[in-house]
Parts: sequence; C-alpha cells; structure tokens
Amino acid sequence: MEWKTEYATGIRNIDAHHRKLMEFIALFENAVQHNAPGNEVRALFQRTKTFLQFHFDVEEALMRLVPYPGLDAHRTEHQQVLSQIEQLEQRAAGDIAPNDLAASMQACLADHIAAGDRLFAQYAHRLYGQASLP
Ligand SMILES: [Fe+2]
Ligand SMILES: [Fe+2]
Repeated sequence: MEWKTEYATGIRNIDAHHRKLMEFIALFENAVQHNAPGNEVRALFQRTKTFLQFHFDVEEALMRLVPYPGLDAHRTEHQQVLSQIEQLEQRAAGDIAPNDLAASMQACLADHIAAGDRLFAQYAHRLYGQASLP
C-alpha cells in the first residue's frame, strides 16, 4: 500500500495520520502473506481501530473549529468506514485471514480520504489559506 498524491489534504497532521493508516494496511498485507496466526491479526485490528477512532475524533474536532458545514455528513461517513472495518474483522475472525483483507481495507479508507477528507481540506484552505491549518 503506497501513499499517493491523490490522498494529500495539505493539512499536516491529517496527512501524517493518513500515512500511518497506510502503514497499518501494509502490516495487514504482510500478515496475510505470511499466514500470521489469528491472534496477531486480531491484535492488529484492535490497534488499527483504536488509531482510526482517534484520527476520526481529531478530524471532527478540527471540523468543529473551522467550522465545517459538512461535519454531520462527514461524521456519518466515519461511522460507515468503522462499520466496514468491523465487518472485515468478522470475516477475518477465523484462523485464515482472507486474501483480499488489505485491499478491502485500503479501498474503504482510500475512498474516504480521496473524497470526503479532501473536500473538507479544500473548504478549510479556501477560508484560511494553505499554511494556516495544524
Ligand atoms: Fe481522514
Ligand atoms: Fe474523514
């Protein structure tokens, strides 16, 4: 899983979080390739979900500060991403993780970043300029 320019929001901390999420996806890729035991995959899901929740909380806090009129819709998208990750976790609950685990995770995270997160970033940059956000 590689970082692409289409994921960049130009908001420093948000981009750093997104890169970290890509690192988690790479760990899933690695776990599937090496047939990692179920308890390792479950621990990885736990760490990913904890970080993802923190990331969503940070984004929503920033959206409240801006303030961003799309906050409620964006929060709904976050809930949908979390529930997709939970569905993936259930599919991976057995001892053999599905082959498409990392790709499915990438699809739901990357879509949200490239669409919803960038929409917010464009709005915030229009208001305050590129260099003004944390
Ligand atoms: Fe995000
Ligand atoms: Fe988001």
